[in-house]
Amino acid sequence: SVAVGLLKRALSSQQQVRGMSSATPKRKVAVLGAAGGIGQPLGLLMKLNPLVTDLSLYDIAGTPGVACDISHINTGANVEGFAGEEDLAKALKGCDLVIIPAGVPRKPGMTRDDLFNINAGIVRSLASAIAEHCPGALVNMISNPVNSTVPIAAEVFKQKGTYDPKRLFGVTTLDVVRARTFLAHRKGLNVRDVDVPVVGGHAGITILPLFSQATPKVDLSDEELDALTKRTQDGGTEVVQAKAGKGSATLSMAYAGALFAESCVKGMNGAQDIVECSYVASSVVPGLPYFSSKVRLGPNGVEEVLGLGKLSDYEQKGLDSLKSELMSSIEKGVNFVNVKT
Ligand code: NAD
Ligand code: LMR
Repeated sequence: SVAVGLLKRALSSQQQVRGMSSATPKRKVAVLGAAGGIGQPLGLLMKLNPLVTDLSLYDIAGTPGVACDISHINTGANVEGFAGEEDLAKALKGCDLVIIPAGVPRKPGMTRDDLFNINAGIVRSLASAIAEHCPGALVNMISNPVNSTVPIAAEVFKQKGTYDPKRLFGVTTLDVVRARTFLAHRKGLNVRDVDVPVVGGHAGITILPLFSQATPKVDLSDEELDALTKRTQDGGTEVVQAKAGKGSATLSMAYAGALFAESCVKGMNGAQDIVECSYVASSVVPGLPYFSSKVRLGPNGVEEVLGLGKLSDYEQKGLDSLKSELMSSIEKGVNFVNVKT
């Protein structure tokens, strides 16, 4: 029976590689902005994911090469590339999950909000196409400023009559990835064992890591806590400065985006207890209609938005001071759609 077990395992992993397992549902994932700094490694990681059966790579330029390149990898997902707006409908048709890393990245000296003028319009037009061609898909928004681009997509979906708050996610996983890494390094822990919830939004002080709820439990001095919090909040800027004009985080973002997308697909496929931090429609903090906190994922996207748990005094102060910036970024997104169209 050991031999039978081994044989079954071998067969099922063969089937998974070919994307043929009857137990694994077909899942079509699109990456919009697939030829970009994030899009390329993210497309690669999704091609390596056995849960993805169809991978749709879309960009306004450069996708034929990227898609051809990725398509030669001998994993199960079928890869198709689409370039140019006339191909967007085909790229989106039948998608279960759409990941959006389309738009310009920061240069040194810029805030994420400085990207609003260009990226808001890109996100609005992509959201509009999603509403038309795959209104039931889950959407993972990576394009910055996330605090505003998620409300923009929501307003577009509302106008089109397709809005489902359970299906729209701002990707804040990179903040969690950074908090885990920085804490593990600081305390000499094995990073694989470390987890840190990060709540709020995805820009500067709106990023609020909850080190008091870290796993494993850690004792931090006031200085350590302050340094780790600030480093997590400024992690994006650290990369922007290190890249010195050549963009922002792409590889760590692709890793984080792939992690979050995989959790979304697992939830869709019926896996239990899939919990990730994400920036979603929320009533966790009164007065803030969008907020990132732990979210339980399920077959239809958000199954449950979890509360914040007990905050330390330091974290409570951080929460109090992020509210006005987060609210004005949300309003800016909402107004962009409602005033301009
Ligand atoms: P990039 O410039 O390297 O790539 C962006 C890609 O988007 C380009 O290939 C471009 O052709 C494409 N694009 C532009 N308009 C498009 C449209 N209408 N439809 C489809 N594709 C379009 O930038 P990047 O480094 O990949 O960053 C992309 C975005 O992700 C930026 O806004 C950046 O700030 C953001 N970002 C977010 C996080 C996060 O944690 N959420 C992390 C890193 C970067
Ligand atoms: C990040 O956190 O790395 C991204 O939001 C990109 C940026 O502009 O910092």
